[in-house]
Amino acid sequence: MSVRTLQLWRGDAAGGGTVDYEVEVETGMVVLDAVLEIQRSQAQDLAVRWNCKAAKCGSCSAEVNGRPRLMCKMRLDHLPEDEPITVEPLKAFPIIRDLVTDVSWNYEVNKRIPPFTPKADAEWLIGQEDVDRMAEFRKCIECFLCQDVCHVLRDHQLHSSYFGPRFLVRIASLAMHPLDTLDRADLVSDQGGLGLCNITKCCSEVCPEGIHITDNAIIPLKERVVDRRYDPLVRLIRRIAGRRRL
Ligand code: SF4
Ligand code: SF4
Ligand code: FES
Repeated sequence: MSVRTLQLWRGDAAGGGTVDYEVEVETGMVVLDAVLEIQRSQAQDLAVRWNCKAAKCGSCSAEVNGRPRLMCKMRLDHLPEDEPITVEPLKAFPIIRDLVTDVSWNYEVNKRIPPFTPKADAEWLIGQEDVDRMAEFRKCIECFLCQDVCHVLRDHQLHSSYFGPRFLVRIASLAMHPLDTLDRADLVSDQGGLGLCNITKCCSEVCPEGIHITDNAIIPLKERVVDRRYDPLVRLIRRIAGRRRL
């Protein structure tokens, strides 16, 4: 048992700042354990969102020592022992209170993406390679850590013209589905702001599910859009083959 200092952000949309709390910790505890102990023993009015405590619901996202993390996955003994631990709300979204942000903008973006649309008479036979490729994207737990770290949303606040990495992953999973029939090239380029991503790979680094967001979703989407829009040979082949999809 040892004592650690946690600096928790307290406040609301009107403003706030970090408050120091000391808490006894044991080997194996995660940041969420310490935050909940502080809530139990010292700050009953502390707002913190969590559900599964198993790194699967995506609701305990916060910034731990300035980096987007799942609080329930971040072990205290993996953080520097001689420094206080800061826990702050996600910066890319509006504050509700304390560690809780309003992530509802993400659900609005999601509604703008047309769902999986197979042909009515599709033969439901899919190659294992296609299944494997899409399975990676289906691991997303919608924690929005990738959205939070992406400079387009975090620093430039371009929410009105950019969907963010989580939804580029969703569009990639649809575009790569062999049975889907919709063309989402204009959606992802124009409304989705695909060109605003400059492939820094920060999103891939914070993803708790280890999804290769940039390499496996965003870069292939960019290649498909460029081919489709600017490669005359690809355009000709598509026209002859009658293929319309991204
Ligand atoms: S690679 Fe693109 S989506 Fe990912 S953090 Fe960088 S700019 Fe954002
Ligand atoms: S892609 Fe990864 S970081 Fe982004 S929302 Fe999904 S699980 Fe979270
Ligand atoms: S509480 Fe569910 S992901 Fe952390």
